[in-house]
Amino acid sequence: MAINSPEYAQIAYDRVADGYDDLWSRHVAGPNTRLTRDLALQRGERVADLACGTGLYTLEMARLVHPGEVVGVDYSEGMLATARERAEAEGLSLTLVHARAEEFIATAPARSLDAVSLRFALAYLDWREVLPRIGRTLRPGGRAGVLTSLASSVPQFAELYRRFRKSPEPAWKLFEHTHRSLGQTWRLYRKLKETFGEPHFISVPATVEQVAARLAQGGLTAHEAWTENIRLWFDSGAEAVAWMEDSGYVTHDSLEHVEPVAMRFLERLFAQGLESFREPMGIPIDLVIGGVVARRD
Ligand SMILES: C[S@@+](CC[C@H](N)C(=O)[O-])C[C@H]1O[C@@H](n2cnc3c(N)ncnc32)[C@H](O)[C@@H]1O
Repeated sequence: MAINSPEYAQIAYDRVADGYDDLWSRHVAGPNTRLTRDLALQRGERVADLACGTGLYTLEMARLVHPGEVVGVDYSEGMLATARERAEAEGLSLTLVHARAEEFIATAPARSLDAVSLRFALAYLDWREVLPRIGRTLRPGGRAGVLTSLASSVPQFAELYRRFRKSPEPAWKLFEHTHRSLGQTWRLYRKLKETFGEPHFISVPATVEQVAARLAQGGLTAHEAWTENIRLWFDSGAEAVAWMEDSGYVTHDSLEHVEPVAMRFLERLFAQGLESFREPMGIPIDLVIGGVVARRD
């Protein structure tokens, strides 16, 4: 199963940092607020927010623990710059660290934190390895909060992916799209097949129980585990595809190797395919969000 390369995620998130909150964060305000509430943060506590991004929800935690400390860790300098500006604008203190979450959690002193939050970043980490390491860093009574898209998210894309993998239709469409020779079309097609041939390339957990089980390996007991469905509507398939790219949702290392002409083709193929899901309100895209809060007793 492919794990995204942090370098690729960094470049991708540097690019989307400016539009990220408008395109993504506002849709998941409910689950974020719920996770923060379930973490039951107290004044004076020390918290790490792994893969903190633009810091919207990191700052909410900073308000709650003030005059404690919140350390925001992220691998994208663009996302961290937005978090820094936001903290300054709100006059709140945030400690921001440019690092991989994996390294931060592996090297944080034992029992040095009251809470760890990790929101919407499991697709970019080897979460089976990282989640069990969180327990060691927490003091007794410390909490870990994990928020993630589950593998059942964006079923519309998953259905198209399955459909296209089995059918000769994309090969013909690629030929029309590229206006190239049969040989060149075949070469591009074979590369796309290689890139997306792996049926399990999405690496987020299937269930909140899987998240809880990994946290339990680090000595944490799950007290809250819930899922929430969120439906987004788009005017067209093309808008839905653009949202997937511009919000950072499709940040996957497989895409790093796709040539621009093939990328434009995939965008068109999926945009057209999504039209088959049209309802009176537009094109639906479903997200399944899972939240887990676990405690060190
Ligand atoms: C979908 S955003 C989530 C940001 C924030 N937690 C939120 O919920 O708004 C994913 C974030 O993970 C960061 N990221 C990806 N791989 C990382 C890694 N290995 N270590 C630290 N941050 C990483 C990206 O730079 C990006 O800011």
